Amino acid sequence: MKIAVPKEIRDGERRVAMSPEVVKKFVAKGAELVVQSGAGEAAAIPDKVFEEAGALIAPDAAAVYGEADLVFKVQRPMTQGEGGPEELDLMPAETVLIGLLAPLANRAQVEDYARRGITALAMELIPRISRAQGMDALSSQSTIAGYKAVLDAASEFNRLMPMMMTAAGTIVPAKVLVLGAGVAGLQAIATSKRLGGVVSAFDVRPAVKEQVESLGAKFVGVEGAGGAETEGGYAREMDEEYKRRQAMLIHETLKKTDIVIATALIPGKPAPLLITEEMVGDMRAGSVIVDLAVEAGGNCALTEKDRVVERDGVKIVGYANVPSRVPIDASAFYAKNLYNLIAPMIDEETKSLKIDWEDEIIKGALLTRGGAVVNDAFNSGGG
Ligand code: NAI
Repeated sequence: MKIAVPKEIRDGERRVAMSPEVVKKFVAKGAELVVQSGAGEAAAIPDKVFEEAGALIAPDAAAVYGEADLVFKVQRPMTQGEGGPEELDLMPAETVLIGLLAPLANRAQVEDYARRGITALAMELIPRISRAQGMDALSSQSTIAGYKAVLDAASEFNRLMPMMMTAAGTIVPAKVLVLGAGVAGLQAIATSKRLGGVVSAFDVRPAVKEQVESLGAKFVGVEGAGGAETEGGYAREMDEEYKRRQAMLIHETLKKTDIVIATALIPGKPAPLLITEEMVGDMRAGSVIVDLAVEAGGNCALTEKDRVVERDGVKIVGYANVPSRVPIDASAFYAKNLYNLIAPMIDEETKSLKIDWEDEIIKGALLTRGGAVVNDAFNSGGG
């Protein structure tokens, strides 16, 4: 069984879908790892280190894709339409492609996998059940994003975060508001607390109140959010009356806030707009908003992708793909997620891949097989 790990070629992507530790684990299971030369460079993993761990180094993309049974990617393959080389042209039919393939936003490409006879699995669609926690790349990458967002905020904030009582005077702690207390938001709360901030958090799902409080933060919530959570634990879009009350509450809270970490997302939909231009206008000069929802349109009306903009002294940070800003640990987590998904399916005797097509996890993540799009969520138009 040959696993290929190409170099990621999308702009700004510094992660790689492998780590030396996971190379060793796969090799111990009898798999052969082929890593493209330079694939780990941006994550501080030189070819030599992959080689020492037991991987073979392929000189270029054509060589790495050539005979692979399995291709591990971080980002979905590049297309000619997006101005790059068509990565799928290098992938033989029957290849099993696994990555963060963003299928719901890229339907035409999913159909292309099917046309080409590629078996594709989307890491984002792995069901969030207990057994799949170790494979949950959304969680592993969101944890990193939540942490890094606070560091980005702290470095843009021209003040200190903790309370300090010194001979030169006393500094009050920064007030942090976290919007959306899911995986990224909870990590942002914990990180802000460690840096000495006074933290409050807002979420539409009342169920997270306890988690927020157990991290030592204050929960800010709107009454009447009973139906905010789907069976899968995600948020629903709320009605107009709720949104109006929520907006008033956020507006008032923002007037007293120094740092906002915005993480609110609704799967398959644009991110909820929680901070309007008017609200930014009412914030104190020197405040910072980090908008982690930027790729889904942003939680703040003024966010610009990959830029730090300033309005009336308030900075709005819009870095996209924040996990890639911590490429070493993000790659290590992601590689481990892939290992946890694939390793149980390697046959002990033949050392080949035996995918259990009836397994709930595979069924959830599988997009295409045998020339057809087979995913229920995808085919029903939902997510
Ligand atoms: P996400 O990235 O889709 O959303 C982030 C947060 O934004 C969520 O907490 C959501 O409730 C919140 N949000 C949405 N609309 C909002 C609005 N208008 N105002 C304020 N907040 C809003 O969610 P994430 O972080 O990927 O996971 C959400 C939940 O999924 C977790 O808290 C957990 O319950 C569940 N989960 C379960 C796992 C498992 O059992 N293996 C693993 C990971 C998550």
